[in-house]
Amino acid sequence: MSAQFSRTPHPSPVPAARRAEIVAEPGFGRYFTDHMVTITWSEGRGWHDPAVVPYGPIALDPATAVLHYGQEIFEGLKAYQQPDGSVASFRPGENAARFRSSAVRLGMPQLPDELFLGSLSELLTVDRAWMPPAGGEESMYLRPFLIATEVGLGVKPSSEYLYLLIASPAGAYFPGGVKPVDVWLCTDYTRAAPGGTGTAKCGGNYAASLLPQAQAAEHGCQQVAYLDAAERKWVEEMGGMNLFYVLGSGDGPGDTVEVVTPELSGSILAGITRDSLLVLAKELGCQVTERRISAQEWLQGCADGRITEVFACGTAAVITPVARVKHNEGEVVVGDGTTGPVTARLRELLTAIQRGSAPDTHSWMRTL
Ligand code: PLP
Ligand code: COI
Repeated sequence: MSAQFSRTPHPSPVPAARRAEIVAEPGFGRYFTDHMVTITWSEGRGWHDPAVVPYGPIALDPATAVLHYGQEIFEGLKAYQQPDGSVASFRPGENAARFRSSAVRLGMPQLPDELFLGSLSELLTVDRAWMPPAGGEESMYLRPFLIATEVGLGVKPSSEYLYLLIASPAGAYFPGGVKPVDVWLCTDYTRAAPGGTGTAKCGGNYAASLLPQAQAAEHGCQQVAYLDAAERKWVEEMGGMNLFYVLGSGDGPGDTVEVVTPELSGSILAGITRDSLLVLAKELGCQVTERRISAQEWLQGCADGRITEVFACGTAAVITPVARVKHNEGEVVVGDGTTGPVTARLRELLTAIQRGSAPDTHSWMRTL
């Protein structure tokens, strides 16, 4: 099916001068473009009425299912203005596939990839004037999500759903900009359990991360690193990012640099940035390993210098170096607390591909 989206223009879009101010300094997730996409799913009819409509509030009955039992999934991806004036996003087919697998876990209907990708193109065409310029840190963050809209308090999969896509010009995710963050190694709470929803991108996972996040903030940390729920021993990931470790410096003769990330445990979100960095690190000549890494190895490795760099990665945060890891019994500094060379090279390479200034040898960029 090649979907035809209806278009209803916004009657009073944001004035051009205000839009320019926002795009020049957008922060993260604070401002939204003039329009949004809606697509409805109903039992018996499937997906119908794809539309671009003015951005604005949606009316929901107080008994709407999503408000009670959290049947909701979302995605996060970015679009970048390219040097030739086109707009492209990074591996959006992977987000479409993950959106479908999240839907399966939450008992929701799967949005066909063609509609997912079509919705991105439609919104970026209509709100093209909001695209941040090529070459800088800024991009357009796209947030597709799906909510259960049946009215009623029965605990069951909904018979109606609403897909929405909103777009937000975005700069650095962390308020401090692109600089190393401190991480709280959380031992009081876990993010996801075996058999739970950790591999799905559903709102409930993030609701459960807010208390640990507040605990991290009390300790002066910007992010939380979680351990596995079964043994409370193995590093999983952060609330919204995957983790990488760099072992060795490659300085001495015969020294290799090893890049390690926790293997997909069944409760870790399979990040698209994570997957891409495994490829790019190998191309940079690093030895690349997906394996379990314990909290003990992390802390000891930083203390004895075996671990030289640690960074977090994800769509919103791109690649963010970790300066320090704090825990109930103390803290260790990673390397000298600044951005390490492997972290910096990977960030440079990834962002150059995304901005169209390095060759896209893996066909990761898709023109929208
Ligand atoms: N882990 C979690 C829990 C996330 O929310 C995200 C962000 O989407 C990631 C990892 C990184 O995933 P990606 O690189 O696909 O953005
Ligand atoms: C993303 O990186 O897109 C995320 O979803 C992480 C966070 C903003 C929830």
